[in-house]
Amino acid sequence: METMKRDFLSLQDLTQEEILALLKRTYQLKRDKTKMRDYLRGKSIGLLFQKPSNRTRVSFEVGISQLGGNCLYLGPEEINLGVRESTADVAKTLSRYLDAIVARTFHHQDVVDLARYATIPVINGLSDMYHPCQSLTDMFSIEEKLGTTQGVVLGYVGDGNNNVCHSLMIGCAKTGISTQIATPKGYEPDPKVVRQAKSLAQETGAFIHLTRSPKDAVAGADVIYSDVWVSMGQEKQAPKRLKDFKGFQINGRLVQGAKDKFIFMHCLPAHRGQEVTADVIDGEHSIVFDQAENRLHVQKAVLTFLIEKSRQSGERGGGS
Ligand code: CP
Ligand code: NVA
Repeated sequence: METMKRDFLSLQDLTQEEILALLKRTYQLKRDKTKMRDYLRGKSIGLLFQKPSNRTRVSFEVGISQLGGNCLYLGPEEINLGVRESTADVAKTLSRYLDAIVARTFHHQDVVDLARYATIPVINGLSDMYHPCQSLTDMFSIEEKLGTTQGVVLGYVGDGNNNVCHSLMIGCAKTGISTQIATPKGYEPDPKVVRQAKSLAQETGAFIHLTRSPKDAVAGADVIYSDVWVSMGQEKQAPKRLKDFKGFQINGRLVQGAKDKFIFMHCLPAHRGQEVTADVIDGEHSIVFDQAENRLHVQKAVLTFLIEKSRQSGERGGGS
């Protein structure tokens, strides 16, 4: 029997209405930590991680425990995805034990393949292409701090061709946030993501502006956002990247071009003195630790939503 289930591999997987519903559920879960506390009773969620993590791993583990579920961390040594056995066999096997998988991979295709062969929901906990749990949390954090997402302008400075920027572009376009993105030459967002984001932005009245000028990116911004210059897996390119991103640092002088009450956001981990200076990330405009906390509340909403949707679409099948 073909099993219908819902995955969360990128923000493209959620409709605008579903994003709004998830944000609403997040508010409820944040207000009352005991809400839905038995929702995952008797259920086991696997965290299949090929890369290190602080926020994603801990917030999922704590969130699953707050929902009454059981959590298993499966690090790179245990599963060795695609090397010890095929991704398809891993997905089919884990579907017989678990009720959902959170996967952190290098290649985005690996989460796609896991989702394809698993009969249980798969959540992308970061791939080289997307970081949807982060971006959904960012939408929640912006709404929480600014009261709305509609009409907000976000300035992103740094690596446009990474997971965080790609998901941010889609999340912003879907929630009416305009983006001004400054990158050095050669670090522009993936053209496919730009096309998708532009088409989504048309529906919500947002705009997307790609530039080489960090000053233009932060001009009039309500939100300033940054991410590392060297993402996990790119360590060998570090010397070149540090040179290429010179001039793309968010510092006290640059943020003067933003709105007076701008907020500073960063997915973390951060490198003070590289993509952002300490006076900005540790200053009064920064919301980075509220943003990090919100990962917990948002992901509880995502987990309950996916399991509910998968339940609605039919009983778990035997796999194939
Ligand atoms: N922002 C984020 O995903 O952090 P970790 O890599 O520590 O999980
Ligand atoms: N772009 C960063 C995000 C870390 C949460 C990375 O992939 O390392």
